[in-house]
Amino acid sequence: MAPVVDIPSRALVFIGFMGAGKTTVAGEVAAALGVRALDSDRLLEDELGHSVAEEFQARGEASFRAAEEQLVCRLLEQADAGSVIALGGGSVLSERVRAALEPHLTVLLDIDTQAAWRRAGASASSGREKRPLASDREAFDKLHASRLSLYEGLADAILPALTPRVGLRALPALSGLSRAPVSTRLLWASAASGDYPVLVGGGLLRTEVCSQPGVWPLERTVSRPFCVSDQNVAGLYAERLGGVQELIEIAPGERNKTLAGAELVWSALVAAGMTRADHVVALGGGVVGDLAGFCAATYQRGVPVVHVPTTLVAQVDSAYGGKTGVDLPQAKNYVGAYHHPAGVIVDPETLSTLPAAELAAGYVEVLKTALIAGGELWQRVAADEPLDERTILACARTKLAVVAEDERDAGRRQVLNLGHTVGHALETVTGYERYRHGEAVGLGLLAALRLSGLDELRAQVRELLSVRGLPLALDGEDVEQVIAATMRDKKRTGAQVPFVLLDAPGNVRTGCHVSAGELHAAVSELQARG
Ligand SMILES: NC(=O)c1ccc[n+]([C@@H]2O[C@H](COP(=O)([O-])OP(=O)(O)OC[C@H]3O[C@@H](n4cnc5c(N)ncnc54)[C@H](O)[C@@H]3O)[C@@H](O)[C@H]2O)c1
Repeated sequence: MAPVVDIPSRALVFIGFMGAGKTTVAGEVAAALGVRALDSDRLLEDELGHSVAEEFQARGEASFRAAEEQLVCRLLEQADAGSVIALGGGSVLSERVRAALEPHLTVLLDIDTQAAWRRAGASASSGREKRPLASDREAFDKLHASRLSLYEGLADAILPALTPRVGLRALPALSGLSRAPVSTRLLWASAASGDYPVLVGGGLLRTEVCSQPGVWPLERTVSRPFCVSDQNVAGLYAERLGGVQELIEIAPGERNKTLAGAELVWSALVAAGMTRADHVVALGGGVVGDLAGFCAATYQRGVPVVHVPTTLVAQVDSAYGGKTGVDLPQAKNYVGAYHHPAGVIVDPETLSTLPAAELAAGYVEVLKTALIAGGELWQRVAADEPLDERTILACARTKLAVVAEDERDAGRRQVLNLGHTVGHALETVTGYERYRHGEAVGLGLLAALRLSGLDELRAQVRELLSVRGLPLALDGEDVEQVIAATMRDKKRTGAQVPFVLLDAPGNVRTGCHVSAGELHAAVSELQARG
């Protein structure tokens, strides 16, 4: 069959836990490329002359792993551009295999343990040959947990296994990834109403990289880029996008994330002759992302938007998930639309020009995300490890996983509002002038942790905020006004404002009701330099 997409310049090697569908996805991708997929389990069975289960039973796992290592290393040594390989789930336990993966593009098909058990566990495989490591649920879950970080550490790309035909959908981006700087990572974002590539890597924002086919998520000869940026960022980075049709600059800062700001952008797009075939590029922080995203969602009833986030807030949070909007004088983010990007390009090197205070404010979103995620991300943040691409990627993954479950904020997505109820209220009562978004959320986190009754964790978070010089107390704002603004939160249903509270890092509760007295105490404590 003739290939229908660019052949990736590195071999594609699918890894992942049993039940992830590596054989199927590799088969689909290979067919699209006009090649035959190689499946290490099938090839090994051919060589052994019997099934993997029989090998396990007759000679034990060690003997199977030795034979598997030989075969997989051979496959990987022979692989080159155009090869598509599916590896057995445990093959990457071998150090030799991991080293042999190095020149190739390693693609993790990511599956949670529950779904994997449904697909591969004892009852699922009862009609077929049983998988030797999928007979006992508890052992299966433990195995899944133990392999997770190994898989993640090896992956150049992470695709959600449950998204139908995900390999095919992600193939142009995988081709692009194979031509991007080697440290670049691809996350495939998937939600009910759309999926898109997220590329994260130092040096991505360079004309010669951006212009590579597949790196930019849209074909620029068909869809022209119209860039919206702010006056600080445009001068630093717009040229690096290469070949932008029009550059529209807004004044920087939250106070410009308004309907008037949107009107300026819409008018500039009309004046520049933008059509529905073209797309918007949001180059900047969360303010540009929210405003340009909103303009893209509404211009001619919707055109695509590519996010190129340049602040920490935007790189770990606001560029993903499709929430766009503007503020009203009465409340923040009150008018908006859900509009998923066509793609997100994250170059963490842009953070080198970000003022220290903005970096600190962005750190609060990292802290919030780590509290939501728990596990390894929280451990790294709690240990105050330096912020690197791994952390940015982990935050992006956390947010995308939440959005995948609940795109429209009807349930699980509300966890992302941890610290935001009081945080947004503070921004509103201070006219978006006194606090950066992250600074306000930091204070909101302290209030949320007090309302959660987690004194020790609150003290720990307070310390992490303190070392970055972030505000730990209100700056003279009136407690009653802050509470009144909190009660106008747009998440309010009926008379109650639902709060997001924690039981522990990684264990978040949404829709919590707190009494007026509790809220008063938590906000007053902030006034008392608390
Ligand atoms: N849509 C969402 O899901 C979501 C999530 C979180 C936050 N937000 C929104 O994000 C906004 C806050 O975003 P922010 O903190 O990125 O603020 P911002 O966009 O105002 O950027 C902060 C400042 O940094 C400057 N800047 C940006 N990148 C730079 C760079 N690389 N070098 C030098 N200067 C740079 C900007 O010009 C600005 O002055 C808020 O409006 C918030 O509501 C949205």
